[in-house]
Amino acid sequence: MARGERRRRGAAADGARAAERAARSGSERRGGGPRGAAGGAALAVVILSLVLGLSGRWLLAWHRARRAVTLHSAPPVLAPNSSSPAVAPDLFWGTYRPHVYFGMKTRSPQPLLTGLMWAQQGATPGIPKLRHTCEQGDGVGPYGWDFHDGLSFGRQHIQDGALKLTTEFVKRPGGQHGGDWSWRVTVEPQASGTSALPLVSLFFYVVTDGKEVLVPEVGTKGHLKSIRGHTDELGDFRLTLLPPTSPRDSAPKYSSYNVFWSPNPGLPLLTEMVKSRLNNWFQHRPPGASPERYLGLSGSLKWEDRGPSGQGQEQGQFLIQQVTLKAPFSVELVFESGSAQAGSSQAQERLAGSRLTQALEHHADTFRERFEKTFRLKKKGLSPEEQALGQAALSGLLGGIGYFYGQGLVLPDMGVEGSEQKADPALFPPVPLFTAVPSRSFFPRGFLWDEGFHQLVVQRWDPRLSREALGHWLGLLNADGWIGREQVLGDEARARVPPEFLVQRAAHANPPTLLLPVAHMLEGSDPADLAFFRKAFPRLYAWFSWLHQSQIGPVPLSYRWRGRDPALPNLLNPKTLPSGLDDYPRASHPSTAERHLDLRCWVALGARVLLRLAEQLGEAEAVANLSPLATSLEAEASLDELHWAPELGVFADFGNHTKAVQLKPSPPEGLVRVVGRPLPRMQHVDALGYVSLFPFLLRLLSPSSARLGPLLDILADSRHLWSPFGLRSLAASSSFYGKRNSEHDPPYWRGAVWLNINYLALGALHHYGHVEGPHQARAVKLYSELRANVVGTVWRQYRATGFLWEQYSDRDGRGMGCRPFQGWTSLVLLVMAEDY
Ligand SMILES: *[C@@H]1O[C@H](CO)[C@@H](O)[C@H](O)[C@H]1NC(C)=O
Ligand SMILES: *[C@@H]1O[C@H](CO)[C@@H](O)[C@H](O)[C@H]1NC(C)=O
Repeated sequence: MARGERRRRGAAADGARAAERAARSGSERRGGGPRGAAGGAALAVVILSLVLGLSGRWLLAWHRARRAVTLHSAPPVLAPNSSSPAVAPDLFWGTYRPHVYFGMKTRSPQPLLTGLMWAQQGATPGIPKLRHTCEQGDGVGPYGWDFHDGLSFGRQHIQDGALKLTTEFVKRPGGQHGGDWSWRVTVEPQASGTSALPLVSLFFYVVTDGKEVLVPEVGTKGHLKSIRGHTDELGDFRLTLLPPTSPRDSAPKYSSYNVFWSPNPGLPLLTEMVKSRLNNWFQHRPPGASPERYLGLSGSLKWEDRGPSGQGQEQGQFLIQQVTLKAPFSVELVFESGSAQAGSSQAQERLAGSRLTQALEHHADTFRERFEKTFRLKKKGLSPEEQALGQAALSGLLGGIGYFYGQGLVLPDMGVEGSEQKADPALFPPVPLFTAVPSRSFFPRGFLWDEGFHQLVVQRWDPRLSREALGHWLGLLNADGWIGREQVLGDEARARVPPEFLVQRAAHANPPTLLLPVAHMLEGSDPADLAFFRKAFPRLYAWFSWLHQSQIGPVPLSYRWRGRDPALPNLLNPKTLPSGLDDYPRASHPSTAERHLDLRCWVALGARVLLRLAEQLGEAEAVANLSPLATSLEAEASLDELHWAPELGVFADFGNHTKAVQLKPSPPEGLVRVVGRPLPRMQHVDALGYVSLFPFLLRLLSPSSARLGPLLDILADSRHLWSPFGLRSLAASSSFYGKRNSEHDPPYWRGAVWLNINYLALGALHHYGHVEGPHQARAVKLYSELRANVVGTVWRQYRATGFLWEQYSDRDGRGMGCRPFQGWTSLVLLVMAEDY
């Protein structure tokens, strides 16, 4: 998954953030954009260097470095105003902060943010645990969206020790500024009939990022009646926190209130700020009950910490209301847009209480109906529990969609491999990204090759959301046609990535999986998709051209992933992060002479999809360019010549390789790689696994291909790839199976079952089961067995743990890696629906 940071999360990259801030204040929102500025500067530098007689090599290096961080010149797929409330009012507000348990924001570079924190008072001695951002190890869970339609409604459950929280939202269109929305947060004790009911604090907050106005209206006892506000994009609005009631009831419940209002400390610091301000004990005294102590915010509605001469205003505001009471209860927060009120003929009734209940029920019914109409799980005979899993898979993916804005760090491609180390990372221009994320707790940001799989699911549900996401990703294209594989945009995203993983390398690729949803769109006949492609084609073409030119291999029609790890003494097998399959074994001794099977297959798929697209759009020149390439790449003779390993009986990588490597303890360094005999030589790489299957996975083989049978043999053999829990990533027979790559690097793609590749395998089996050929019957049989295994594994783990997982053990089916992982593991829904 190209996530080297996986178990090595560290501190926030403060230096880099400061650099971004500085650059932002300088370059952002300047007319003309980076391209115009770069052009002018380029000319000046050329002249200057001619005058000074500087070397051509230096000029070339400078030119490359510029291009790496210059946006591509093709017209944008999405108009610059496409996310504005005027153009897309229904998508303006959303749960676009996937890394918080509950929060919403606007699709804007300067968003208004709202969020929830909570704490159970007195559950543990000392300071209560404050919950805010989704974390792997905080003991919260299971949690996740039961329903989320990606647009206007969601319901999420969260278990936190003795508490059960339900967070719901519903949006109501109206006006010109994104409309209204309402939240309901319900807190109940986990077990009914407990004698001591828990005392719980909810913290509702609003954060602004700049010049926006927030005016709190104070009631008695620190109760914030409402917040009036105004921003350019939202116009006038009002946020109202209604008095808590019993759940499913309108009977008010006694509550204590605290407030706090200060300059925005920076989004990554919100939790810490609240923690540091929870420093006073207060009394919660309902009438007729004994008082109880609770830790509260000791703020007031005086504008705190306002720096000299209104400094605070510029960095925005942070306004938070703490509500403390005994569970069970519900609290509602209502956002009303001024223009929605003004626009309706009579004053709109507030979306709260029974009206909110009705709206939520209506949306839930609509969701269920639409879900069945789209995926037909019930009709296919799946159980109600499996249908619920499918709904949770879809909802978790949609609820994980985020909107990010910021500048990435890029290390330019200096043309000579390895020499990029000498260059300095540069800031990419500020860009927005609307994308799903692999995991709300662990990878809450955009990942390029994950996103192609995400959109396969999303597009079945809402093709427009997929066009939005694809359009945003294509907006990240640089002048060379490159897109960075991990997008760390904005402070909130950046705070969760260690500095060494912030930098994206412009010489490195990633599988072009965005072409999978594109291929699916091409099969349909949605006129909106066709209109989208007219705009997207130049960028898709540039992206593909960059891929197949920059990753060209040592011999014609071969390809090689740039950016393998160097052969360090402590690595069993230098990793290949760009491939997405991180530690999947490749040639033991990296060299420029190696060729990678999976990459060649990705390029072949790309040529096929781009050609079909060009034909459909009547792009004659592109057709003329792509057609010979696609034909050569699909020719089985050429694939055979470069990658068929007769001695292994399968397709394979080719490179400088020996199997005789192992890690041995060597104090004081720890584990060190030892190379034995036979010594490495140029040969096919013996590493049976997902990579060996690629010509089959991407359906590049003809049904009558002589190679199909042997691939099905290894797929179906439990000594190799077949496990009762799905296809394992590396054959059990491989010498790398289950092996650590270094002392600190446990196995990742060395045996575990991954849903994205199992989905591709099922799609391929389904395909070869439907076209005539010698292996048709076998494909049908394997298909149904594998499908049952994969669905069964995900389902059993979901039932046992309440989560979808990053990967599953091929030995016992246990969920492994991070959770919730509602990125490509959500493909289980399409497997249940048999939609490939
Ligand atoms: C959005 O921008 C396009 C041009 O890119 C313009 O034609 C259109 O009127 C704008 N829409 C709104 C609602 O401002
Ligand atoms: C393979 O790697 C070994 C060890 O680094 C090296 O000595 C040898 O020259 C390489 N062979 C080829 C063909 O590149």
